[in-house]
Amino acid sequence: MTNESSGPDKGMFDAAVFANKHIKGKFYRLGLEFYGDGAAAFAKARPGQFAELDLAGIPLPPTDAIAEDLRDASERKILLRRPFSFCDVSSRKDKIRVEILYCALGPATLRMTSLSPGKSVSVIGPLGNGFQSPADKKTALLVSGGMGAGPLIHLAKTLAADYPKMGIIAFAGAKSKTELPFERPTDEISQQLGFALHEFARVGVESQLATDDGSAGYEGFVTDCFTKWLGRSSLAVKDTIIYSCGPEVMLARMAKIAEDKKIDCQISMERMMACGFGLCQSCAVKCKVNGSSETIYKLCCKDGPVFDSREVAFEL
Ligand SMILES: Cc1cc2nc3c(=O)[nH]c(=O)nc-3n(C[C@H](O)[C@H](O)[C@H](O)COP(=O)(O)OP(=O)(O)OC[C@H]3O[C@@H](n4cnc5c(N)ncnc54)[C@H](O)[C@@H]3O)c2cc1C
Ligand code: FES
Repeated sequence: MTNESSGPDKGMFDAAVFANKHIKGKFYRLGLEFYGDGAAAFAKARPGQFAELDLAGIPLPPTDAIAEDLRDASERKILLRRPFSFCDVSSRKDKIRVEILYCALGPATLRMTSLSPGKSVSVIGPLGNGFQSPADKKTALLVSGGMGAGPLIHLAKTLAADYPKMGIIAFAGAKSKTELPFERPTDEISQQLGFALHEFARVGVESQLATDDGSAGYEGFVTDCFTKWLGRSSLAVKDTIIYSCGPEVMLARMAKIAEDKKIDCQISMERMMACGFGLCQSCAVKCKVNGSSETIYKLCCKDGPVFDSREVAFEL
């Protein structure tokens, strides 16, 4: 799994936890620090790539800290590593820091909440193909649903640094205000900066917020918020690219919007993953064959998780 000539591109490494912050509700942000070969590999990590974490040996939090609806599930044995994308990658002297925005919803992610600074985690990565760079585009529109925000926060930072003249706008949606995986109260930030979300504002990226129940921002699906915004804008479609990550039903909708408007669109898909690098075939994504009605299966972990939206044959 390594490339000797230029340092490893990926591999299995031990990472040290430097932070594990509870954001609110079931949302957390884990900070991992890599040294040596691990630092060399993760320095090359691109937005949209992911890593497989071994969380089996981590103890569960105390029972009274586990939400009642997760207590039965929390006892389930963890046989496999779990995949997570990155919301930030940064360098600090000879170390690389990788941050993961995560939601505690089952046995592995509940264990993840117990990781405290100084603990070590076995990580395989960086894996998969991330978002492609938009060299010839003037505007990038980032659309996330729920936990899909993580890789798009990372992408916003990278695009803002690599393409300082590019217009970048983020659209983030969730079921309700409490389901938004962001740190600061949204109204405080919007008052101070005129931008909805701190996570994007800190890299100079404007953002719009939508919640299905209207408890924060636009009332309705983020895809509707996005469509209305697009309708009011006068963007040249050939200069524009959409990047999206979130639940599959939302990605299918984004793919349709992009197809109707003829805008290039890259989507980050999710599948249950076992190996994470193309061996077990557990993460198949049905894809269209160009110029034919046939379909083939590609692997989310190896060919993706980011796909061109025209490629995926959604079955919803
Ligand atoms: C490429 C990739 C990147 C990811 N990035 C992140 C991230 O940045 N932050 C984050 O919180 N989560 C992310 N996930 C999802 C994460 O891997 C799962 O939440 C985790 O595996 C759940 O493990 P668990 O044992 O706690 O819960 P489990 O008991 O395994 O799952 C709990 C519930 O979530 C569903 N679920 C679990 N994994 C997935 C999945 N991959 N797709 C759809 N439904 C699933 C299960 O069906 C079940 O209902 C990512 C997944 C993939 C494939
Ligand atoms: S997770 Fe094993 S092939 Fe994709």
